[in-house]
Amino acid sequence: MNEQITADQLNEAGHLLIGGCDAIDLAHEYQTPLVVYDVSQIRQQIRAFKRVFEENDVSYAVSYASKAFAAVAMYQVVNQEGAYIDVVSGGEMYTAIQAGFPMERASFHGNNKSYDELVMAVKHHVGVIVIDNFHEIDLLSQVLNELDAKTKVMIRITPGISAHTNKYIQTGQVDSKFGFDLASGQADEALQKVLANPRMDLIGLHAHIGSQIFEVAGFEGVANKLVEVADHWQKKFGYQAKVINVGGGFGIRYVKDDQPLRPEQFVDAIIKAIKKAVQPTNLGKPAIWIEPGRSIVGPAGYNLYTVGSRKDLPGLKSYVTVDGGMGDNIRPALYQAKYETVLVSDPQAPFTEHVRLAGKYCESGDILCQDQALPKTKPGDVLAMLDTGAYGYSMASNYNRNPRPAVVFAENGHSQVVIKRETFADLTHLDQPYEQN
Ligand SMILES: Cc1ncc(COP(=O)(O)O)c(C=O)c1O
Repeated sequence: MNEQITADQLNEAGHLLIGGCDAIDLAHEYQTPLVVYDVSQIRQQIRAFKRVFEENDVSYAVSYASKAFAAVAMYQVVNQEGAYIDVVSGGEMYTAIQAGFPMERASFHGNNKSYDELVMAVKHHVGVIVIDNFHEIDLLSQVLNELDAKTKVMIRITPGISAHTNKYIQTGQVDSKFGFDLASGQADEALQKVLANPRMDLIGLHAHIGSQIFEVAGFEGVANKLVEVADHWQKKFGYQAKVINVGGGFGIRYVKDDQPLRPEQFVDAIIKAIKKAVQPTNLGKPAIWIEPGRSIVGPAGYNLYTVGSRKDLPGLKSYVTVDGGMGDNIRPALYQAKYETVLVSDPQAPFTEHVRLAGKYCESGDILCQDQALPKTKPGDVLAMLDTGAYGYSMASNYNRNPRPAVVFAENGHSQVVIKRETFADLTHLDQPYEQN
């Protein structure tokens, strides 16, 4: 029996409910594979992060890291909740603009922003450009001169802290492609260059230490490091940082062994760490920004699949194959990510077997779950993989020329397609015939 699904997630028929909608009905109405989001869960997470800042009377921004899942509808929901976004490409920026997102609440990240992307960001008045490297300082300076414009910026530093899952290493991760190095003086040099440019309004510093983090120690560490650098910049260069941005990475539960903290526990620890660290300084009360991605959309997402073929091997685990796989969720194949999957018609049914849940893609590595406990299934049964909302659809591909699934938002018993299922015609619409000379 799956322990994650609680009684309030079932209807009278015992079927899984997503956003108040019967998941069997969703699968029938929209076909599978299907990505479904419980929108109220997205809202609750954003509100949980915001609440702690408000209760502590701290200036803040909860900036949704939209690489986790970017779509017009998603940007609309984030806007409705009054949160910020961060984008990492022209494509994400474009999608947010299409959604009518107020771009002054957007930050633009990336370690190789192109000239065109910077022009787009400046023209659309993106709130903050998070400067990552020296090339970008020059390119942005050129763009600002050409457009006769100004922009707010932050400087991204490499904090020398790496925190992945439950490890927190203080000296690790200096060797990173992101941000300015501290020890070699690059960050100081970047600061001087930015301060010397009257078109750049430097509002603060940024760092991001990793993803799927389960402990507060890494965030306390990065908060301390950012305050230390801000203090050094004030003393040495007279620069007063207004914003400390500690990035994202708050862990979520995928499987039983994952024991994430609640949003409020992370935020509380970050606020306390920064308040304490600024006390002996003259930094005053900098605003605190965070950039949660996974923790906002991950738990709200479900991938629905229909069971197809089965292969039983004497003495080995059986393969149960579904109609999706690595094209709609690359994470298990890419980095052995683990998930739990339930039978939608009876999520609390006792388990009767352990199977390998396989995808339909032509790769032996296309296994969605290496060891999935399930009741006995038959072709046509609908399965729901849980907590798939982050870095699933956003990393989807057309491998094997499979169309990407539809994405549905479900809330208060209503459902709506927010990204249509791709058709075969969509797959060839960019193809051009080759004219042999
Ligand atoms: C700069 C930055 N901020 C925020 C995030 C979001 O991380 P998560 O989805 O783990 O919260 C990432 C993820 O890679 C990132 O690179």
